[in-house]
Amino acid sequence: MAINNKLPFLLLLSIILLFLNHPVLGDTDEEDVLFTGINSYRTSQNLTILNKNENAECLADELAEQFKNRPCTNNTGSATVPGTEPQFADYPKILTKCHLNVSDTRDGSIMPACVPRLESSLVLTNFTKSQYSRSLNDSKFTGMGIGKENDWIVVVLTTNTPGGSYSTDTDTKDDHDDDDDDSSGFTFSIGLVNYLLVLIMSFCFFLC
Ligand SMILES: *[C@@H]1O[C@H](CO)[C@@H](O)[C@H](O)[C@H]1NC(C)=O
Ligand SMILES: *[C@@H]1O[C@H](CO)[C@@H](O)[C@H](O)[C@H]1NC(C)=O
Ligand SMILES: *[C@@H]1O[C@H](CO)[C@@H](O)[C@H](O)[C@H]1NC(C)=O
Ligand SMILES: *[C@@H]1O[C@H](CO)[C@@H](O)[C@H](O)[C@H]1NC(C)=O
Ligand SMILES: *[C@@H]1O[C@H](CO)[C@@H](O)[C@H](O)[C@H]1NC(C)=O
Repeated sequence: MAINNKLPFLLLLSIILLFLNHPVLGDTDEEDVLFTGINSYRTSQNLTILNKNENAECLADELAEQFKNRPCTNNTGSATVPGTEPQFADYPKILTKCHLNVSDTRDGSIMPACVPRLESSLVLTNFTKSQYSRSLNDSKFTGMGIGKENDWIVVVLTTNTPGGSYSTDTDTKDDHDDDDDDSSGFTFSIGLVNYLLVLIMSFCFFLC
């Protein structure tokens, strides 16, 4: 009897928890799809997959923010003529914000693409079937970060050499900062664990 009374409440609780999680998942969708797509491409080329690099992701996010109000044309994004890439006055500031500097990013590769509504099949081919495919097909790259804003999606590739590692800080204080920044992806997993714990504990509370 007592258990039966609590069941609707538990059901409601579960539904609320699912809802709380859902927007977090939906928010990163295009980035996740592209991440997987690029790594499938790497696998098809017999290359190692690219691991997620948090500082590169920060840079990609910031650059997407810079690009977001620019229109898509036939000579922007992946169709940009090499040598005519847009320059951003606050690029040094952006690097600092992402714990980076020119000496650990110069061997990396920054690849912005513009695709209306980020339609996922076009997004992938804008990388795998454009001038960017040469970089994606390069075994020197080992990591990547992806950011998006509006119709723009930016991929930043990193190497495991000092000139492209995208990890400046070796002293402990800055390492600590990095850990804080790394948390965006991490918070979600922790958050999920917390929700599950709450769920399990509610079950015990009501049923045990
Ligand atoms: C990848 O390796 C397989 C087996 O070694 C080979 O058949 C295939 O042609 C390779 N693909 C590329 C793109 O090099
Ligand atoms: C890009 O678009 C412009 C105007 O719409 C056109 O004149 C030009 O030929 C196009 N360039 C390419 C490479 O398609
Ligand atoms: C890239 O995306 C644009 C849409 O902005 C599309 O017109 C173009 O065909 C795509 N390019 C490739 C190589 O997929
Ligand atoms: C990628 O690189 C491999 C080996 O260097 C080469 O055989 C292949 O044709 C390249 N593919 C593309 C799409 O450039
Ligand atoms: C960039 O980082 C390297 C290694 O951490 C450091 O030696 C160098 O002074 C830094 N350069 C700038 C411009 O901050």
